[in-house]
Amino acid sequence: MKKVRVFAPASIANMGCGFDVIGLALDEVGDILEMTASEGDGLSITNKSGVPLPENIEDNVITPVVRSFLQKINQKAQIDVVICEKIYPGSGIGSSAASSAAAAFGMNELFGCPLTEEEVVICAMEGENLASGGFHADNAAPAVMGGIVLIRGYEPLDLIQLPVPGNFYCAVVHPHIVVSTKAAREILPKAVPMHDAVRQWGNVGGLVAGLCTGNIKLIGHSMQDFVAEPYRKQFIPGFDHLREKILETGALAMNISGSGPSVFALCDSRPVAESAGKVLKEHFEALDTGCEVYVVKVSNKGAKLTHLTL
Ligand code: HSE
Repeated sequence: MKKVRVFAPASIANMGCGFDVIGLALDEVGDILEMTASEGDGLSITNKSGVPLPENIEDNVITPVVRSFLQKINQKAQIDVVICEKIYPGSGIGSSAASSAAAAFGMNELFGCPLTEEEVVICAMEGENLASGGFHADNAAPAVMGGIVLIRGYEPLDLIQLPVPGNFYCAVVHPHIVVSTKAAREILPKAVPMHDAVRQWGNVGGLVAGLCTGNIKLIGHSMQDFVAEPYRKQFIPGFDHLREKILETGALAMNISGSGPSVFALCDSRPVAESAGKVLKEHFEALDTGCEVYVVKVSNKGAKLTHLTL
């Protein structure tokens, strides 16, 4: 029997212009799983996190991750998973990806690391597919690898780790509005007008160049999204006005976090992120919409072992 305790961080997908191709990991906030492998052929998942999750393991993102891992390495085993800490589902900071990444990373550790980091991300994407009906990696890749990750291609998966400027913080607000990732994906048109596509790939290039050269202003200017935000912002009351107020705090940019409804402000210092966090909170409270606000550093750390017993 082998047991591991693993952590995988929260993450923010898209970073504005990088729909499905850029994501960043957040510090400290994340999921913790304890996973045991023993002889046999089965899976149990016990939720001790206190966060409500589906009772049926077929509806838990961990299940397809564990199964696809065992299939890849062509082995059978009894896997027992205990969910110790869990990001609230729907909070917009990659809750399903944190569980999926922790499960994929934990399985790899339990079996002596037969998979590469990229293959671990592919396993984690099985969980994302169950949660959202799409094989996107922009939460799963940063949750496994840490930092800011560019998914240069999906066929085959090609992941590029980008430099994280030293003092990057995100203020994230999770307003109590329900928008499922599935619904937020279905609302998007299937084709992008050429004019918008040109503006978007210019911005993706600008964002990558800004990160690689540490050009903070360029990073902020490049985070405009012409592909998803115009359709999704209708779910977030007062979105345009909120952005004006957020930019007045000195934040570099404000965007929808992944598919929403959470919104984040990227900032290059903690004090600015704290001011932005206050503005985010005041905005939703003035609309009588409950919310939680987090101010979190962008992290270079991905999934990791927190404890191991043989
Ligand atoms: N890139 C995905 C989307 C992330 O925007 O739909 C989902 O969290």
